[in-house]
Amino acid sequence: MADAQTNAAPTTRRGTFVSLEGIDGCGKSTQVALLADRLEAAGHEVVRLREPGGTAISEKIRKILLDPANGAMADECELLLYEASRAQLVREVIAPALARGAVVVCDRYLDSTYAYQAGGRGLDAALVTRCNELGSCGVVPDRTLVLDLCCEDALARATAGGADRLEQEGMRFQERVRAAYLRLAKAEPERVRVVDAVGTVEDVAARVDAALRGVVATPLGRGDAGAAHE
Ligand SMILES: Nc1ncnc2c1ncn2[C@@H]1O[C@H](COP(=O)(O)OP(=O)(O)OP(=O)(O)O)[C@@H](O)[C@H]1O
Ligand SMILES: [Mg+2]
Repeated sequence: MADAQTNAAPTTRRGTFVSLEGIDGCGKSTQVALLADRLEAAGHEVVRLREPGGTAISEKIRKILLDPANGAMADECELLLYEASRAQLVREVIAPALARGAVVVCDRYLDSTYAYQAGGRGLDAALVTRCNELGSCGVVPDRTLVLDLCCEDALARATAGGADRLEQEGMRFQERVRAAYLRLAKAEPERVRVVDAVGTVEDVAARVDAALRGVVATPLGRGDAGAAHE
């Protein structure tokens, strides 16, 4: 059990928090790995994370969430498991990393819960937002990039390596998730930027860096203004 001090709202924040979002198979994990490499090459301390997961407890919760045998899981149960995994990650890893000045790069974060549980599953959006406030312990990214790709192309990329439980939900579900991400970008234009995920890995990486300009310095982000697709 955490003590009273670690349960206090995180206040010290010297680092930078970036999250990558988007529907299944759009290229998040590919771009998170490349971005983290570039940031390290630029001299930053980088903490690479993937949600759900990133702590011993959160990884156990991840296994429950992604297990194809758990198809009977109630939407509310799913929502709360994501939030439980996230809260542990924030308290144990993200808040301390931001306090010491690291750059945290997270493959999915609270916007995934909004897009999938509210947009995809149809849970009440205001309720999901409140749950996100609890699960994130109030720690919101400085910038969130939504890698945007049409559902057909993303599903083709995603299913090449075998489908997990969420991927089996199919195209209509992904369409709702994509629409929810685009709504988020409209609602929070300063934090949430849409990045065109069409094209080669290198094309998308250049757009990622362009969309991070002003938030964190990356080797590509200091040059090539023509790569911006914000
Ligand atoms: N720009 C690209 N062009 C073609 N293929 C790509 C591109 N980016 C990633 N891929 C490939 O598409 C597949 C899915 O990419 P990746 O795992 O990065 O997506 P993801 O968004 O993390 O997926 P998931 O939501 O399932 O975790 C991988 O096989 C990856 O190598
Ligand atoms: Mg991934």
